Amino acid sequence: MTFDFDQPVERAGTDSQKWQKYAGHDVLPMWVADMDFKSPPAILEALHRRVDHGLFGYARPVKSTTDSIVTAMELRYGWKIDPAWVVWLPGLVVGLNVTSQAFADPGDEVLSLTPVYPPFMTAPKNSSRVSVTVPFVLSDGGWQIDWAALERAITPRTKLFFLCNPHNPLARVWRREELVKLGEFCVRHDLVLCSDEIHCDLILDPSLPHVPTAVLSPEIAARTITLMAPSKTYNVPGLGTSFAIIPDATRRSRFVLATAGIVAEVNNLGYVACEAAYRDCEPWRQALLAYLRGNRDLLLEFVARDLPGVRVEAPIEATYLAWLNVSALGLADPIAHFEQHGVGLSEGAYFGAKKGTHVRLNFGCTRATLTEALRRMKAAISAHCLR
Ligand SMILES: Cc1ncc(COP(=O)(O)O)c(C=O)c1O
Repeated sequence: MTFDFDQPVERAGTDSQKWQKYAGHDVLPMWVADMDFKSPPAILEALHRRVDHGLFGYARPVKSTTDSIVTAMELRYGWKIDPAWVVWLPGLVVGLNVTSQAFADPGDEVLSLTPVYPPFMTAPKNSSRVSVTVPFVLSDGGWQIDWAALERAITPRTKLFFLCNPHNPLARVWRREELVKLGEFCVRHDLVLCSDEIHCDLILDPSLPHVPTAVLSPEIAARTITLMAPSKTYNVPGLGTSFAIIPDATRRSRFVLATAGIVAEVNNLGYVACEAAYRDCEPWRQALLAYLRGNRDLLLEFVARDLPGVRVEAPIEATYLAWLNVSALGLADPIAHFEQHGVGLSEGAYFGAKKGTHVRLNFGCTRATLTEALRRMKAAISAHCLR
C-alpha cells in the first residue's frame, strides 16, 4: 500500500489550533508540533468502526490496547515491559506536571537542559517547584551536554531530572553512552528521571536507534518515569491519549496518587487510535519517515543555499522540527518579521534561547507547503537586507 503525503488536506476553518492562530491571514503555520497529514488509514478505519458501535460510556483500556504497547516496545526497542507498569494519561504535559508534584515538594528543584520544550520549565513552576536549567553547548558539530555545569547545578533541593529523548527542539538522538552517563548522574544524586520519549518513533537517521532510558540498567529503570504517546508519530495529539511506563511499584503508586481525582480518564476513541497506531501502522510510519527525510533534506539544502543569515547548527536526527539560528539576521523580533512575510514559526525564547537568536520550524507538512514557506522566508530575508 502506498501513502500520499503530498495530498493537501484543508485545515483552515477546522478546530486545528495550528491553523486557527493565523485564521484570516495569509500566514503558513509552521509552529505547534502537529503535522498536516491525515492519520494512517488503519487508525481512521478503527475509529470509524468504534464510532459505528455508537456507545461512548466511561472508558477503560481493554487488554489488547495495552498489549499493543507492550509488543511495540519489545519489537522496536527490545524493551520488555509489564502491562501493569502502564499508567494512562490524557497528555504528556499532564505527565510532566504530575511527575513534578509526585516526586518534588514545593521549593524543590527540577533540572532540565535547554533549549527545551517549554512545559519542561513551566510544569515545575505550576506547583511551586523550581525549574533549574543548564544550557547545551555546541561542539564537535553537535549539541552536547555540559556535564560540569550539570554537576554544578545540583543542590540539596534537586529532586528530579527532566530528559527529552529524542530532544525537542534540537532534533538530537541521545546515544547510549550519553544516556548511561545521565542515568548514573541521576543515581549518584538520587534524582527521579523523567524521560519524555514522545518523539521516539520519529528518528530520521536510520543508523541511530532509539534507546529508551529505562533499558539502561535495573537501577536506572527503577527511578525512571517514561512518558510516551502515539500523538506525534501518528498525528493524533487532539485525541489526548498518552501513557507513563513506571517499572517501580512504589514510584508508580506515588505517581498514580498524584493524579487522583484531578487527571481525566483517556477517552474511548483515544484508546482505539492508540491500539491501531502501535499494532497496525508500521508501513505508514516507515513511509512517513521517508517523506520527512525528504522534507528535512530539502530544508537543509534550501537554508544553506537561499537563506543567508540562517543556520542549522547540528544534524536533524529526529522529529519534524528544525531549530534555526537566525541571530546573524539581527532582527529584534524574528517571529514578527517572518509572520509579516507569511510564515508562522515558534519563538526560540519560549524554549529558553536568547530572544531574537532562534526560531523553530515544523516541517511536518506537504512538500509544497514547505517549499512555499521557505520561499517566503527567502523573500523576508531579502526584504530585511534591502532595508
Ligand atoms: C517533548 C514533548 N513533550 C510533550 C509534548 C506534548 O504532549 P501532549 O500533547 O501529550 O501534552 C510535546 C509536543 O510538542 C513535545 O514535543
